[in-house]
Amino acid sequence: MLENLRESMRFRSITLDTVARKLDRAANIDDLRLLAKSNLPRGVFDYIDGAAEDEEALARSIRVFDQVLFRPRVMRDMTTVDTSTTLLGKKIPLPFALSPTGFTRIADPQGELAVAKVAAARGLPYTLSTMGTRSIEEVAAVSDGPKWFQVYVWKDRGLVKEMIGRAEAAGYETLVITVDFATLGRRERDVRSGFTLPPKLGLDTIFDGIRHPRWTWEFARSEPIRFANVSGTSDDRDGTNAVALAPFVAEQLDPSLSWTDVEEFRAMWPGSFMVKGVQDVEDAKIAADIGCDAVALSNHGGRQLDASPAPFELLPETVDAIGDKSEVLVDGGIRRGADIAKAVALGATACMGGRAYLYGLGAGGERGVDKALGFLHDEFERTLKLIGASTVGELGPDWIRPA
Ligand code: GLV
Repeated sequence: MLENLRESMRFRSITLDTVARKLDRAANIDDLRLLAKSNLPRGVFDYIDGAAEDEEALARSIRVFDQVLFRPRVMRDMTTVDTSTTLLGKKIPLPFALSPTGFTRIADPQGELAVAKVAAARGLPYTLSTMGTRSIEEVAAVSDGPKWFQVYVWKDRGLVKEMIGRAEAAGYETLVITVDFATLGRRERDVRSGFTLPPKLGLDTIFDGIRHPRWTWEFARSEPIRFANVSGTSDDRDGTNAVALAPFVAEQLDPSLSWTDVEEFRAMWPGSFMVKGVQDVEDAKIAADIGCDAVALSNHGGRQLDASPAPFELLPETVDAIGDKSEVLVDGGIRRGADIAKAVALGATACMGGRAYLYGLGAGGERGVDKALGFLHDEFERTLKLIGASTVGELGPDWIRPA
């Protein structure tokens, strides 16, 4: 009797590590989002989670994945399934790359270092942002995995060229030029919260700080958050002085950017070259024609133009138009491994995602990022098994049907 009782009462082992305990109970990326929401001050969470204006582009980019279903095949011997693929000439274990995200240290003091380490351990490409809060060299020192460097073109072209040179010297393989940033999208959550980068700990945020003591403590005791790649150039642009993003972007970033500049960057970079933020097939064609090895269909996570198409929807016509010249990636709304499988079936070489790992970072630092990437990988593998595809290469439009 006692024996029976003991058998039926198997308690989960109890850990005093609260982060581990919470992460253990997370079942998917959305759970990590909720954990991040409870850990981070409201303004910080909203900067990560929010998007432009009515946030329709973000919502649409997520929703659109539900509008297609698989055509699963059964009885196909799924004993071994290979989730790996080749992206820009490199074999990677999952068709997924980590998107660049600005000011990553607001979610966790380690910031980009935590993310880059996990990405390297999992063999996935990590993209460091120009607006990163760890430098090109710091990231390279912790990551022997595939590294990409993302460029926002600042008015000071000398500075941009210097950064690109540093990225090349530090072994970054791919240069990613963001092309959807002629001005900053209006993120209305940030307007309401008066959010600045780095976040200001003033009277207005003090209550938020008290409600999130762990974040506030870590934030207060870690070294100041800066744009690490431009630090020392001037207090106004390296983030030493807290800035509201809109005037900062208006002052520093170059709205005159055109395809001629992109061609120039293409010519100066010896490695793989990608443009990110393409939202129409005509631009995809221009990018392919000027020698971009990859085109990332992206609406910047819905953070720029609210009335922009969901990148996933653009896949078939883009792949049709340029698939023989350039690899096509898609970024925006990836929350599930199944989303990746759907995108690959429609011709994407890989997907990219930012929030997916930032939620993990906010939920539990490096361990949270690992959890997030683990979810995507496991879900992708499970999806392949359940639809009867044993390799990534088998996926194609025939595996998809409208919902
Ligand atoms: C920066 O790229 C942002 O979207 O905030």
